[in-house]
Amino acid sequence: MDISISNSIKYIGVDDEDIDLFESQYVVPEGVSYNSYLIMDEKIALMDTVDERKEDEWAKKLIDCLDGKKVDYLVVSHMEPDHSGSIERVLSLFPDVTLVGNAKTFQFMAQFIDADVESLNKIVVKEGDELSLGEHVLSFYMAPMVHWPEVMVTYEKTEKVLFSADGFGKFGALELTAGDDWACEARRYYFNIVGKYGAPVQMLLKKVSTLDIEKICPLHGPILTENLSYYIGLYDTWSKYEAENKGVLVAYASIHGNTGKAAEKIGELLREAGVEKVVVSDLAREDMAEVIEDAFRYDKMVLCGASYDAGVFPCMQDFLNHLQAKAYQNRKVALLENGSWAPSAAKTMRSILETMKDITILDPVVTIKSTMKDSDMDAIKALVVAVANS
Ligand code: FEO
Repeated sequence: MDISISNSIKYIGVDDEDIDLFESQYVVPEGVSYNSYLIMDEKIALMDTVDERKEDEWAKKLIDCLDGKKVDYLVVSHMEPDHSGSIERVLSLFPDVTLVGNAKTFQFMAQFIDADVESLNKIVVKEGDELSLGEHVLSFYMAPMVHWPEVMVTYEKTEKVLFSADGFGKFGALELTAGDDWACEARRYYFNIVGKYGAPVQMLLKKVSTLDIEKICPLHGPILTENLSYYIGLYDTWSKYEAENKGVLVAYASIHGNTGKAAEKIGELLREAGVEKVVVSDLAREDMAEVIEDAFRYDKMVLCGASYDAGVFPCMQDFLNHLQAKAYQNRKVALLENGSWAPSAAKTMRSILETMKDITILDPVVTIKSTMKDSDMDAIKALVVAVANS
């Protein structure tokens, strides 16, 4: 796909539409892009490489774009293999290239690549260091844990471009998703991949708030060129663990469908009570990453879980473990359990929720026995009122 950034800054990234699971865990029905850029000046800088899955296609674009010139610098923003997977190809094409990274970059590089990193030409940069390419000047800012410890972003001040590493990235091959809403897949990407690292993202946002930025070039997804305050604002909300929208996620784990019926009923009653946005999700069947995204997106959540092996049905346990790992916090949660002989789901769900920061568990916690009956409706309605009014 031909993407124009400027006369001097060229997009040479590639789409991966064949990948089944990104990071071997996230479904990406519309693929993903591995972005890479060339800055053409007196000295030529290559901004990151791509996953080795698409190395040949990328190398062809790189060589075509260089038109006989050579790469002087390879800036390595992030050593995760979806971006560093083709470093060895660069070394074989341009043996004199100078690698640009921080101390941790080179520590990780020695672990990942089959080359004697000690003997390579390299510049080890620190916070605020600059590298002149001629007219273009690169400044480096460390962004540890957005999303690995060695991550850094690069600001090019002549054209006011921020190369933001994984920050502001999203799922979706560029060819397949041109013109799509940005936030949907950016939000799923953010909460599942970077979500745990809200504080480091806040630190990065603070640093870049002092820069005059006209374009953001991430390592996945589209180049952002307009209305940058919208994207930065969403990152600010997400990384502070504030709800983006008022609404309720009703997530259920149901073995034979009866807990699911109770969850659907709660969803219906919440809508009748005037809650504008209600999403009901079946944890056994829906994309877990999408449900996690919704948990962070809305300010309230109702969990409906079947009891199982003296705990909770495994997909609910898995969901809560994911939320805990991603630092889910600052939300209101209501609980309904189902149990035929010794209900145990609510106790298990509560015990995991209580390990999280600023979670309010609403009263009443409802127990149904095997199926939802008319006699359960008073308790279910009380739960709905508590959620709607909280
Ligand atoms: Fe796109 Fe953290 O790698």
